[in-house]
Amino acid sequence: MTNLSSASLDKAYRQVERYYTQKLRRHGPSPLGVDWSCVPTQALRFRKLLTLCDFRGPFALNDLGCGYGALLDYLGLYHPHTLVDYFGIDLSPAMIRSARERWAGQRIQFHQGTESPRPADYGIASGIFNVMLDQPLPLWEQLIETTLVHLRTTSRKGFAVNFVHLPASGQKARAGLYCTSPDRWATFCERHMSSRIRVIDDYGMGEFTLLVEPRSP
Ligand SMILES: C[S@@+](CC[C@H](N)C(=O)[O-])C[C@H]1O[C@@H](n2cnc3c(N)ncnc32)[C@H](O)[C@@H]1O
Repeated sequence: MTNLSSASLDKAYRQVERYYTQKLRRHGPSPLGVDWSCVPTQALRFRKLLTLCDFRGPFALNDLGCGYGALLDYLGLYHPHTLVDYFGIDLSPAMIRSARERWAGQRIQFHQGTESPRPADYGIASGIFNVMLDQPLPLWEQLIETTLVHLRTTSRKGFAVNFVHLPASGQKARAGLYCTSPDRWATFCERHMSSRIRVIDDYGMGEFTLLVEPRSP
């Protein structure tokens, strides 16, 4: 694993935080406010990430990069009969304020930061690695590594994250967008986490989802 200075990482987090806070100011608590295009694709991402979870019984879930808490809407709509002990974390204080306002009076916990202060059965993170702005690639990849290791440490039964695919040959990615291949991160997780990896790559969005579960002893 690479080792870059924590000052550089802090600067990267601050820039990403400003980017999302501005999106929220401009568009409010809506898919555009977290840089997604619409509810159906936001929900499709949730569906793929939640493939990891066993909805037959109650479980605890950490949602890293929770934005304004849209995953709670999704869970209420598609899994109303499963008791989910939800915990949302986001680096943007404005997102956390918005989530708390939306779910006021419902005893749902939100936390501002880049790591969950509590362990859970599952951890998911939708869209947190995409917007790298002008960070140097090694720094951004160190940030991803650190986050994946943290997710592994705090997720008893596994975690799921998504990434944007490398563009097809002849096409150019949007400036400031981090694009990668499933192999890059599947290999990292296999090497550093003694985990079982599944890749979901077939939902027609130019993205893929990585499911990481501890290997049974
Ligand atoms: C693309 S938005 C998605 C929001 C939400 N997951 C959804 O799908 O509606 C990414 C969110 O992650 C937050 N974020 C980005 N990087 C993060 C990090 N390293 N740790 C915690 N939150 C992060 C941003 O502030 C933003 O709210």
